[in-house]
Amino acid sequence: MKAWTTTKILKCKGKSKVACMTAYDTPTARILSAAGIQVILVGDSVGNNVLGFDSTIPVTMEMMLHHTAAVARGAGDAHVIADMPFLSYQVNDDEAMRNAGRLIQQAGADSVKLEGGSERAALVRRLVSNGIPVCAHIGLTPQSVLAFGGYGMHGKLPAEAEKLFDDAIALAEAGAYATVLECVPDALAEKITAAVPNVTIGIGAGPHCDGQILVMHDALGINPPEGTPRFAKRFAEIRAAMGKGVADYVAEVQGGTFPPARA
Ligand code: KIV
Repeated sequence: MKAWTTTKILKCKGKSKVACMTAYDTPTARILSAAGIQVILVGDSVGNNVLGFDSTIPVTMEMMLHHTAAVARGAGDAHVIADMPFLSYQVNDDEAMRNAGRLIQQAGADSVKLEGGSERAALVRRLVSNGIPVCAHIGLTPQSVLAFGGYGMHGKLPAEAEKLFDDAIALAEAGAYATVLECVPDALAEKITAAVPNVTIGIGAGPHCDGQILVMHDALGINPPEGTPRFAKRFAEIRAAMGKGVADYVAEVQGGTFPPARA
């Protein structure tokens, strides 16, 4: 049993913040785990950040199984959440149960994440009662980007805020151990965090959540600055460092200085 179980994550509520980041492969999972990340999300954002799609919608179960298994092999004591991709849980609850089970049983995830509000509460209850821990995700839910028409803030209007608040309560009551709040106003995230017994994990939701998550490619400067959301601080500039390393290699190969002659 790894150190960061859902029980241990829940115990952080009100005491210490939970640091989460995405990863999609074994070496980065090893780096994140060794650096103290408690929760690694194998996000369906693998679609945008690694696979060259322009949204998460093309990501399939087979892709999520492949990337989740790679992360699970490197995660050490960090808790691994696997995203349930588009259409893996929306068609019916039996299919959702089977797909969530595959992410746990075949890929080695510790829990699954799915998008949506109170309309998912019955499914969350079923998964949890069958031994599958669930992280919910409300606010900006990227699998609905076509319906939303973009990646803007959610919950600015009073009716939207009230719906998100009710969703957060319903999902916590259904047994979700955590809820991602994406792109919601700080004050709403604070109100939800104070009201729910589970752990809120914010992204673009201000400082009051119980934990924070960033997409690794944003946080470490792998994505270009113009493709990085404003809320995502760049803690490193890996893109620039890689570009320089590769350019230096090209120069040495073309200049004949690499490899050096051997005696
Ligand atoms: O897929 C993902 O990376 C996510 C985060 C944005 C929370 O769902």
